[in-house]
Amino acid sequence: MAVNNSKFVVRMVQMGVLALSVLFVGSIAAQSRDEQIAERLKPIGDVCLAGESCARGGASAGAQAASGAAAEFSAEQAYQQNCQVCHASGMAGAPKFGDAAAWATRMEKGMDAVVANAINGLNAMPPRGMCMTCSDDNIAALVEYISGHAQ
Ligand code: HEC
Repeated sequence: MAVNNSKFVVRMVQMGVLALSVLFVGSIAAQSRDEQIAERLKPIGDVCLAGESCARGGASAGAQAASGAAAEFSAEQAYQQNCQVCHASGMAGAPKFGDAAAWATRMEKGMDAVVANAINGLNAMPPRGMCMTCSDDNIAALVEYISGHAQ
């Protein structure tokens, strides 16, 4: 009986050691997995703040340039790039840049309605005048620019 008992104790100790070693190995594996994940996330997590010189070139430098461009939205430039193609000549019945009468008629329904039409599109007028990078505010500025420059 005494022999059996001590065998039992030895068995329990063995199992305890086994359990501990499984936990230990498991925690090492988990740790290295965390490190791998951190390593994989690093390029995305690297943030380059405005005003800081970015050590990393490529994507983040490009993103910074793009956000800089968005901040300095120029209605004149965006008009030339996106709207002029139709609104300079009055193509397909587009109210012409510089045509006061045409814009006065459009504005009769109110600035907000005209801006909404420019955002959503109207007949041959494509949504946002095909300026996919223009925000709603940008479109509003563009409408003011086009109609306000009617002489
Ligand atoms: C593919 C040609 C085309 C492009 C590009 C285009 N427009 Fe137009 N736009 C039109 C036409 C055609 C109309 C007249 C639609 C109608 O009344 O049937 C129009 C009408 C408008 C109107 C009057 C909407 C109203 O409620 O009467 C606004 C404002 C306008 N465009 C703004 C813009 C702006 C801003 C851009 C550039 C971001 C732009 N358009 C680009 C063709 C174009």
